Amino acid sequence: MKIAVIGTGYVGLVTGVCLAEVGHHVTCIDINEEKVEKLRKGIPPIYEKGLDVLMIDNIDRNRLKFTTVHKEGLSDAEVVYIAVGTPQSADGSADLTYIYQAAKDIGEHVNRDVLVVTKSTVPLGTNFQVKEIVEDHVKGPFKVEVASNPEFLREGSAVYDTFNGDRIVIGTETEEAAAILEKINEPFDIPVLKTSITSAEMIKYASNAFLATKISFINEIASLSEKVGADISDVAKGVGQDHRIGSQFLNAGIGYGGSCFPKDTQALVRISEEVEHDFKLLKSVIDVNARQKTTLFEKAKKRFGTLKGMRVALLGLAFKPETDDMREAASIEMANALTAEGAEVIAYDPIAMENAKKVLPESVQYAENIENAIKDATVVFILTDWKEIKEKALLFSSLFMKKPIIFDGRNCYSQEETEKVQVEYYSVGRSA
Ligand code: UGA
Repeated sequence: MKIAVIGTGYVGLVTGVCLAEVGHHVTCIDINEEKVEKLRKGIPPIYEKGLDVLMIDNIDRNRLKFTTVHKEGLSDAEVVYIAVGTPQSADGSADLTYIYQAAKDIGEHVNRDVLVVTKSTVPLGTNFQVKEIVEDHVKGPFKVEVASNPEFLREGSAVYDTFNGDRIVIGTETEEAAAILEKINEPFDIPVLKTSITSAEMIKYASNAFLATKISFINEIASLSEKVGADISDVAKGVGQDHRIGSQFLNAGIGYGGSCFPKDTQALVRISEEVEHDFKLLKSVIDVNARQKTTLFEKAKKRFGTLKGMRVALLGLAFKPETDDMREAASIEMANALTAEGAEVIAYDPIAMENAKKVLPESVQYAENIENAIKDATVVFILTDWKEIKEKALLFSSLFMKKPIIFDGRNCYSQEETEKVQVEYYSVGRSA
């Protein structure tokens, strides 16, 4: 099939590349000339395991193209995916400027009947607006259909998730539109759920809101466990062994970050308000998350009184491992708090340091390896549980620090492990 994808961010690029990999002819459109130039050479602007190899293979096979010219990608397309960003507006709602612009571009440039598929996470009803805009701009007697086909990819394993997803949700107005999307997705061999457009849009928000709820819930249980003397690692294990609950997304820590959960939970609260529904549970999830982000800093303040003048190693800057994405990363809040407190911050991340430099306070210094970050530090903070950090932080702290102290926001170690190497250790949800 001839497919166009508008937007080459995380979702758009992975979608385009994977659709090409299963045999479709895909043109990815982006307005950023510099980015498109790199993409044509097979260089992805994001770090994502396996993506570069698939890009190069499919560019070579002539199944994957990149362009800045809308007409080039759209005039011949049977199906157009919209995968542009929906950033958070000042009031918490999703900003749909790029979605509307994409709809206008599609209308202006398509030259045949078209199915417009929204991949971006959009508020309920947006797909109908997209349809109207496309129809208002088409220059011929072309039939316009729309579909909601939300993505459930995790950054860092987006390519794997595309080929191994739990479900593909297809929300359409007609059976014909659903049949086209089923055919496109057939090679992925993943169960398909066909719904109305509005239900598909809701499935995306509800899924992210539920996962965020699981995290805030376990973080609340962690705070309580600390006070009553339970160990959250054992508690989460025991709770997660109930299949009705499931063990995933029960890792207590420093709250959820990233480009999705914070934005989508806020947006769902706004959507609820618009229809006069007071979504109390989700508001609490957001509040708990905000509080959780500062717990580690509070613990350190309690231990030291002040962190003024101390040299603090921040290990793991990205919002989670296997990504260089700094959006809503806990390290931002932590670095700001430490800097305001007068601490000297030395930061390390396996791949996110270039992006970190754009968002962390200017005074933050960067170590070229984990060893250098720890060497002269008075205290170590672990914020992201990268494999490298887990493997080295405890050992190096015990070897290089005069009086090793670790504040671990990701519960990388057990109490026994830290006692064995005589490291003073504070984590989340354990009473020590
Ligand atoms: C999330 C969802 O997992 C995807 O299904 C969804 O498609 C995506 O958002 C999206 O809407 O585009 P992602 O943001 O890449 O994916 O990252 P997650 O792996 O879900 O982690 C989100 C945050 O929750 C991270 O800060 C992570 O550290 C935190 N987290 C996750 C915990 O604190 N505890 C856990 O047990 C799991």
